[in-house]
Amino acid sequence: MATFPEYIAQNEERDGVRFSWNVWPSSRLEATRMVVPVASLFTPLKERPDLPPIQYEPVLCSRATCRAVLNPLCQVDYRAKLWACNFCYQRNQFPPSYAGISEVNQPAELLPQFSTIEYVVQRGPQMPLVFLYVVDTCMEDEDLQALKESLQMSLSLLPPTALVGLITFGRMVQVHELGCEGISKSYVFRGTKDLNAKQLQEMLGLTKPSASQGRGPQTAQQPLSNRFLQPVQKIDMNLTDLLGELQRDPWPVTQGKRPLRSLGVAMSIAVGLLECTFPNTGARIMTFIGGPATQGPGMVVGDELKTPIRSWHDIEKDNAKFMKKATKHYESLASRASSNGHMVDIYACALDQTGLLEMKCCSNYTGGYMVMADSFNTSLFKQTFQRVFTKDVQGSFKMAFAATLEVKEIGTGGTCQWKICGLDPSTTLALYFEVVNQHNAPIPQGGRGAIQFVTQYQHSSGQRRIRVTTTARNWADAQSQIQSIAASFDQEAAAILMARLAVYRAETEEGPDVLRWLDRQLIRLCQKFGDYHKDDPNSFRFSETFSLYPQFMFHLRRSPFLQVFNNSPDESSYYRHQFNRQDLTQALIMIQPVLYAYSFNGPPEPVLLDSSSILPDRILLMDTFFQILIYHGETVAQWRKAGYQDMAEYENFKHLLQAPVDDAQELLHTRFPMPRYIDTEHGGSQARFLLSKVNPSQTHNNMYAWGQDSGAPILTDDVSLQVFMDHLKKLAVSSAT
Ligand SMILES: *[C@@H]1O[C@H](CO)[C@@H](O)[C@H](O)[C@H]1NC(C)=O
Ligand SMILES: *[C@@H]1O[C@H](CO)[C@@H](O)[C@H](O)[C@H]1NC(C)=O
Ligand SMILES: *[C@@H]1O[C@H](CO)[C@@H](O)[C@H](O)[C@H]1NC(C)=O
Ligand SMILES: [Zn+2]
Repeated sequence: MATFPEYIAQNEERDGVRFSWNVWPSSRLEATRMVVPVASLFTPLKERPDLPPIQYEPVLCSRATCRAVLNPLCQVDYRAKLWACNFCYQRNQFPPSYAGISEVNQPAELLPQFSTIEYVVQRGPQMPLVFLYVVDTCMEDEDLQALKESLQMSLSLLPPTALVGLITFGRMVQVHELGCEGISKSYVFRGTKDLNAKQLQEMLGLTKPSASQGRGPQTAQQPLSNRFLQPVQKIDMNLTDLLGELQRDPWPVTQGKRPLRSLGVAMSIAVGLLECTFPNTGARIMTFIGGPATQGPGMVVGDELKTPIRSWHDIEKDNAKFMKKATKHYESLASRASSNGHMVDIYACALDQTGLLEMKCCSNYTGGYMVMADSFNTSLFKQTFQRVFTKDVQGSFKMAFAATLEVKEIGTGGTCQWKICGLDPSTTLALYFEVVNQHNAPIPQGGRGAIQFVTQYQHSSGQRRIRVTTTARNWADAQSQIQSIAASFDQEAAAILMARLAVYRAETEEGPDVLRWLDRQLIRLCQKFGDYHKDDPNSFRFSETFSLYPQFMFHLRRSPFLQVFNNSPDESSYYRHQFNRQDLTQALIMIQPVLYAYSFNGPPEPVLLDSSSILPDRILLMDTFFQILIYHGETVAQWRKAGYQDMAEYENFKHLLQAPVDDAQELLHTRFPMPRYIDTEHGGSQARFLLSKVNPSQTHNNMYAWGQDSGAPILTDDVSLQVFMDHLKKLAVSSAT
């Protein structure tokens, strides 16, 4: 029998699923008493190179309200060729093609190792992939040049049959006609007036696919393209030239003004163009912006430079004039794109804010990417953009299009469906479940609860695929079997699931209220699952299964996901967006960054994220997901300044300096989006990034570590982990709470 940690790891490996609890309380009341909800993190397209897709379609339960997929948990009567649905208990006949099945001749989907399985849909046409570039031209020449080069490079990474289009914008919006013989022609739109789909269709002379053609492009003989979206193989040379000739927006910008940037209308035209021509087909709108929208629908700031873009302070004072209206504009675009299965990516590269706060729904609703960098001429942008087109061993993009997720649960035959549009192998969703049985009618003992995730998507090869994951957990009576429920707790998954709830609340509630909510949940969890004598804080013990959880909450409280005032609203939106889509491992790094120490005292080792880890003769490597930081302790920094690394007799010092650099490179080369790289030292201005993350164990408000002479004291008003824990224990054991 595997231990719970082994069981959890196996399930994650095979199915991409982690549950907060791996044994479930059998009634609604008991479930609420667990404090942390029964919930799961699910990575629909977790990479499974060992899982070849099967070339037939799933067998579905015949009950119209259920339609669950045949799976290894179903009871099968081989003699009668019947299977019982494990969600609604319906008995189903196998289809004729299954006539030959028997105990020794089972189809793959009945074998336990295929709890996750992927089917290739055989019906329907192969869909082309569509990439629509939406490019800001209001930027410095250096930025525009770098961006043009990246865009040209990307054309060579697209499959030859992919359709591409180009929209550029500054004060005006231009939709470029591709493939007009030898001349470049474009349609020009004013940036101050929005157009609905119908108006756009008329102005661009687009014909909607007729009813007889069905929805979306159909016949393989005459692939549906139009003057604005053409196959790469046909126009890549011409588009490369067109991109090469792009100039900065020609409209003069007077002193003290921002350029007029019609981002809101440009995005609206992009969404409308695809809506008219490729509804329900996988498409990516890739938006590249060098500054905020300053006119028309979606503007987030006026063109007067002396009026800065809204800050958290303005928002709190209800002084962000354009925010609500702009947000509404982008939300309506995002909904339209999402209902057509289209993704919207935003690459915002500028020193100042560009309006990610208002636009975040575009990436959020559609599964698009959001990337933030200081300039297009940075490796952060260039490498990240290139990585979007990474291919797997079969040579297919790691991006999936037009995806939907359906979840089937036991009992009610309940099903819920969401449009996700864009997915990649690390996209991780949080799903929260409700146990509906009443306390006096709990689920009978010994039963298992089953959940089925059905993810449908367009593979980058053009095929439609269906990935099905079916998983089950035991029910237990929370009164008599509280120990086994407690032992099944997955504290890492629980921390991320609670963190996502907190981030969700933080989007609509006041910061202090969210922290209070989070604290209350933590105290209740300690009360429910800790061992202690009433009113004796020193007696408090948490079993190993829960022991790291309070520390995760401590770091979460301090994280940029909940503390907004050190960041701009755009930065907060960006951090939260990444946190909401990355997998568990990456999300944990975001909450509690990892720290490695390099010294002459032995091989590199992980050390506590604590100020006591900062020592003069050490180099530290910190990974916060967003930043990779190398920090040279005081003595190491002096040696480096003195140039010891260049002297033959101090070769080992040279190696010591190099080791964290090599490890950092590895992270920089694999992560998406690429992190920011920071090289700093004791006393360096960028050392603040490290100091703001470590637990301030050695500050004035910590009597325990005070007076120790090792480590660097941190200037902060934060409480330390020790103070936090002491306080927590006191509250948990108090008979007054
Ligand atoms: C981009 O930056 C690099 C180094 O910072 C510089 O050498 C290069 O000229 C820049 N590119 C452009 C197009 O200006
Ligand atoms: C591409 O450009 C060349 C030269 O300008 C032109 O002759 C050709 O017709 C163009 N091709 C398409 C598909 O527009
Ligand atoms: C989108 O926003 C909702 C609401 O804030 C949030 O719960 C969800 O996790 C977000 N998804 C992504 C991918 O950012
Ligand atoms: Zn069923």
